Amino acid sequence: MHDQAFYQTRIEALLDSVLPQGNQQPETLYKAMRYSVLGGGKRIRPLLVYATGEALKIPLESLDMPATAIELIHAYSLVHDDLPCMDDDALRRGKATTHIAFDEATAVLTGDALQALAFEILSSPLPGISALNQLKILNILTSNSGINGMVKGQAIDLAAVGLKLENKQLETMHRYKTGALINASVLMATYCTEEVTCDDEPSINRHSPISEKRAKLTDYANAIGLAFQVRDDILDIQSDTETLGKQQGADIAAGKPTYPSILGMEAAKKKLYQLHAKATASLKDFGDEAFLLREIAEFIVKRIA
Ligand code: IPE
Ligand code: IPE
Ligand code: MG
Ligand code: MG
Ligand code: MG
Repeated sequence: MHDQAFYQTRIEALLDSVLPQGNQQPETLYKAMRYSVLGGGKRIRPLLVYATGEALKIPLESLDMPATAIELIHAYSLVHDDLPCMDDDALRRGKATTHIAFDEATAVLTGDALQALAFEILSSPLPGISALNQLKILNILTSNSGINGMVKGQAIDLAAVGLKLENKQLETMHRYKTGALINASVLMATYCTEEVTCDDEPSINRHSPISEKRAKLTDYANAIGLAFQVRDDILDIQSDTETLGKQQGADIAAGKPTYPSILGMEAAKKKLYQLHAKATASLKDFGDEAFLLREIAEFIVKRIA
C-alpha cells in the first residue's frame, strides 16, 4: 500500500514519459500539450485508478496506463472547457489557460491531441491485462468520455446557462460532466487483470466475488463523482482565486446553474455529506485495502481547491 504522494509522483513521471518532447516539431503544439498536463492538478482520477487497484490487490504496473490515459482525457476536457466559446476562463491550475498562454487554435488541437494520445496508449499492448479486459477498458473510457459521458454533460451545461434547472436535471448534468470520468477511473481499474472478468461476458458468473466488488465500487464512484462537482460548485462561491488556481465566482458570472445556486448553500453542503456517507457505506465490506479509497472520499468533500 502506498500514500497519495507516492502515486502523484508516479503519475507525474508517467505523464512526462508519454507526452512528446517540447523541443520537437510541431513545437508549439507539443509545448502546449506539456503545459496543459504537467506540473499541476490534484490527479484525483489517476489516484482513484490506483486506489481501486489497491482495494482489489492489482499490481501497480497493470494500472499505470489506464491511470495515465484518464488524466490525459481530463486535461483535454479542461483545455476545451476553458475556451472562450465554452467557459471563457483565463486561469487554470494557477497559471494562464492554454488558449491564453498559446492561442485558441493551439488549445483546440491540444485537446484533440491529448484525447487521441489517451486512446493510443490504451489500445497499445498493456502488461498484465487480458485482451478482452483491455477492450472493456477502452469501451469504458470511450463511453464515459463522449456522448454518453463527459461531452454529453458539457453540452447540457452549455445549454443550461441562464436557466433554473430542476434538481434532477442538475444532478444529471453533474453526473455526466464530472461523474462519468470519475466512474471510469474506478471501473477501468477493476478490469486491469489477466483474468477475464467482464460482467457482460456470458461465461461470467455475476455473483462472482469480483462482480460483487465491482458493483460496490461502482456505487462508491457514483457517490464521489457527484460529490466532486457539488464541492466544485461550493468552492466557486466560498473559496478564493489564489487557493483555487482558477477564477472564483466564475459560475455566477457566467449564469451557470450549480448546487448552491439552485438548492442554496446549506442544502448543497447537506447533499455533499449524504454523498460521502453513501460512498463510505459502499466500502463497508472492504477492509484496510480500501484505505486510500476512503481517504479520497473524505478529501473530495473537504477539499479547499
Ligand atoms: C476540475 O477538475 C473540473 C471538474 C470536473 C470540476 P479538478 O478539480 O480535478 O481539476 P485539477 O485536475 O485538480 O486541476
Ligand atoms: C468542468 O466543469 C467539467 C469538465 C468536463 C471540464 P466546470 O466548468 O465546473 O469546471 P471548472 O470549474 O472550470 O474547473
Ligand atoms: Mg464548464
Ligand atoms: Mg469551467
Ligand atoms: Mg466549476
